[in-house]
Amino acid sequence: MEEKLSLFLVFALFLSNPVFSVDEFIFNGFNDDASNNNNNNNLSLNGAAEIEHNGLLKLTNTTLRVLGHAFYPSPNKFKNSTTNKSLSFSTCFAFAIVPEYAELGGHGLAFTISATKELLGALPSQYLGLLNASDMGNFTNHIFAVEFDTVQDFEFGDINDNHVGININSLSSNKSAPAAYFLQNSTKAALNLKSGNVIQAWIDYDSTNNQLDVRLSPSSIKPRSPILSFVVDLSLVLEDSMYVGFSSSTGLLASSHYVMGWSFNMSGEAESLSLSSLPSLPGPKKNHTPLIVGVSVSSFVFMLLVAVSAFYFIRKIKNADVIEAWELDVGPHRFSYQELKKATRGFRDKELLGFGGFGKVYKGTLAGTNTRVAVKRISHESKQGLREFVSEIASIGRLRHRNLVQLLGWCRRRGDLLLVYDFMPYGSLDKYLFDEPKSILSWEERFRIIKGVASGLLYLHDEWEQTVVHRDIKAGNVLLDCEMNGRLGDFGLAKLHEHGTNPSTTRVVGTLGYLAPELTRTGKPTTSSDVFAFGALLLEVVCGRRPIEPKALPEEFILVDWVWDKWKVGAILDVIDPRLNGEFDEIDAVVVIKLGLMCSNNVPEERPTMRQVVRYLEGEVALPEVVTSPDAYDSKKGNTSGGGGGRGGLQFEDYVHSYPNSSYFEKVSNSSSAGDGDVDIEAGSTSPLSVSGSRGSNGR
Ligand SMILES: *[C@@H]1O[C@H](CO)[C@@H](O)[C@H](O)[C@H]1NC(C)=O
Ligand SMILES: *[C@@H]1O[C@H](CO)[C@@H](O)[C@H](O)[C@H]1NC(C)=O
Ligand SMILES: *[C@@H]1O[C@H](CO)[C@@H](O)[C@H](O)[C@H]1NC(C)=O
Ligand SMILES: *[C@@H]1O[C@H](CO)[C@@H](O)[C@H](O)[C@H]1NC(C)=O
Ligand SMILES: *[C@@H]1O[C@H](CO)[C@@H](O)[C@H](O)[C@H]1NC(C)=O
Ligand SMILES: *[C@@H]1O[C@H](CO)[C@@H](O)[C@H](O)[C@H]1NC(C)=O
Ligand SMILES: *[C@@H]1O[C@H](CO)[C@@H](O)[C@H](O)[C@H]1NC(C)=O
Ligand SMILES: *[C@@H]1O[C@H](CO)[C@@H](O)[C@H](O)[C@H]1NC(C)=O
Ligand SMILES: *[C@@H]1O[C@H](CO)[C@@H](O)[C@H](O)[C@H]1NC(C)=O
Ligand SMILES: [Mg+2]
Repeated sequence: MEEKLSLFLVFALFLSNPVFSVDEFIFNGFNDDASNNNNNNNLSLNGAAEIEHNGLLKLTNTTLRVLGHAFYPSPNKFKNSTTNKSLSFSTCFAFAIVPEYAELGGHGLAFTISATKELLGALPSQYLGLLNASDMGNFTNHIFAVEFDTVQDFEFGDINDNHVGININSLSSNKSAPAAYFLQNSTKAALNLKSGNVIQAWIDYDSTNNQLDVRLSPSSIKPRSPILSFVVDLSLVLEDSMYVGFSSSTGLLASSHYVMGWSFNMSGEAESLSLSSLPSLPGPKKNHTPLIVGVSVSSFVFMLLVAVSAFYFIRKIKNADVIEAWELDVGPHRFSYQELKKATRGFRDKELLGFGGFGKVYKGTLAGTNTRVAVKRISHESKQGLREFVSEIASIGRLRHRNLVQLLGWCRRRGDLLLVYDFMPYGSLDKYLFDEPKSILSWEERFRIIKGVASGLLYLHDEWEQTVVHRDIKAGNVLLDCEMNGRLGDFGLAKLHEHGTNPSTTRVVGTLGYLAPELTRTGKPTTSSDVFAFGALLLEVVCGRRPIEPKALPEEFILVDWVWDKWKVGAILDVIDPRLNGEFDEIDAVVVIKLGLMCSNNVPEERPTMRQVVRYLEGEVALPEVVTSPDAYDSKKGNTSGGGGGRGGLQFEDYVHSYPNSSYFEKVSNSSSAGDGDVDIEAGSTSPLSVSGSRGSNGR
């Protein structure tokens, strides 16, 4: 018995101390508590990564938007010094991803070979702590990664939210496969990366065949067949001396990412890990304790519950900001009111950034992380509407695209909803276009902003799992990030006004001049009415003026009519913003104007889709030679003579006359409208309104 025990101890010691040599090592847990070990083989950690007492490597916990790195402390030689060809390597490791909310992982982890251990400048969220938006795809990165990705990012062409991918200097995988493994009899079985269970992964690179294989299994036995194979010569990616390790990140949704053990070998196949001898995950374990313990534990839990609920009610009386059951089902981070109050210094007027479409927007800095945020405060009279809307925050929060303003979280307090967004240092686009702009945007900047907004809108319409109709595209809702990229804000918010209202009188939300004419007839926002508003935006950006300019000459009152008149007489360059001083790319400018006219067509079917718009803007497809008059349809019906400002005036009246009760008109906000002529309107309509629906046809 004693002998057995000491044998076991020796064995355990052997396991917990990494066997180290120049190009191979094995960690069964990452503890380095043995005093007799002189090897410098503690992992180098940075970001949120830490090693727990039992030797478990925790790359991230469920804190939002953090990254964690863990690298082997000394670099490995990855190239044959005579031929400069990359060498073979083999590695396997055991990991577990425990999401904060079941089935909603964020974001994943990656086995990484990198020239540095710090990966400076790398970002969390979809970048997995590996890269950032500006160095994406650059061959000077020298980053090779095998990602275990639990969020589907369309930006990088992810196939689903549970995949393994091979990434070279970029987060767009060169090859990826849904997570799965092969049983011993070669049957393929699905595997859920974010199940919270331990998974072993094997990555083998054979430099003679340039073949990289990835295998997965929930057991200790290495499957015969890989689930992902890729032929690649890593000689160009890897440098002579490289670090190996792991990188992981969380975003708006978060998982704890753990690694339990790791073996690595440059001179042969890496030894597989025996999962049973690795450190175990924290959390609920199987309860084998006698009943009596169970009873005392449950009475303790009961007392705790009593205490907690007493605390709960005291708090409820003191401050009506308690989490209600329905709020717990929601994915994105729920901030506490105190946290946001502190961040915005008590919602001081000094921190006011402006009035957004639905409420006041404050600048804030989150304590702890020092992240700058914008907090939008929306008051809503109907609790029912608020409740339904909050249930949608989960899905809005999952929208991510580099041309959308990212929603970071939310908070509800009585009838107020607080939405926390990424801070956009340069504010909204309208401030740079109309009246006395802060500064004049160059043509290149304008064109880039247009293309960005188009790709953000395409994502909302076509690339996400649901079609999202924005409903309020306008310059005031385009925000500029630190690199002067255009990002759409306020998406999804129009729905707030729909919820909780009488179903027989739904309301049209939008801004005059951007509202597609059919909206007043059908009351039903569609992707095509968004395209109409986008057309108005295009013309605004080129011409540097609003779609409806009350101060302008009568024939210039309606922007699109004025542009069309100039187009007809072939004087199209006259409409371009004079503040550009003639410095613009004529070909691109004509493309934008032409596209603006096409999008402004009164007939929804005549407008291009956002996918076509993006293709035109990217120059992939040439625009049609002939552009039909935006009001051709109305002309046919004899509504107007097809000319000039008359149509505009009539159009404006249409809006008023199509409603039996014009008292429905009300200002949504005193916002941008107050001083600068935007008129936000909200109009009643009696037709049923259905906005988004699963597309189903794309097979997701
Ligand atoms: C490794 O980490 C342990 C615990 O943090 C520390 O006591 C030890 O000195 C470290 N060893 C080296 C070589 O850095
Ligand atoms: C994550 O870890 C950090 C420090 O390592 C800690 O401050 C934070 O509270 C942890 N967060 C959660 C959600 O456990
Ligand atoms: C490097 O390549 C040469 C030629 O193929 C070979 O002879 C040598 O053994 C290789 N060295 C290493 C360290 O693999
Ligand atoms: C290998 O790379 C080194 C340094 O980059 C260079 O000096 C050497 O000429 C290269 N050798 C071959 C065979 O390409
Ligand atoms: C992106 O990362 C690179 C290093 O890979 C760094 O030099 C650069 O400053 C980073 N860019 C941003 C915007 O953080
Ligand atoms: C790639 O990165 C290098 C160094 O960071 C930079 O000089 C170069 O412009 C980048 N190339 C591209 C295409 O972004
Ligand atoms: C892998 O993808 C990157 C970026 O998507 C690309 O630049 C590179 O050429 C690809 N490499 C291979 C070997 O396909
Ligand atoms: C392989 O084994 C699994 C269970 O071990 C079984 O469900 C499956 O039917 C087997 N497949 C074949 C082709 O034998
Ligand atoms: C590395 O490969 C060699 C040769 O196959 C083997 O003897 C050794 O045990 C392996 N080491 C590890 C840590 O996997
Ligand atoms: Mg991916």
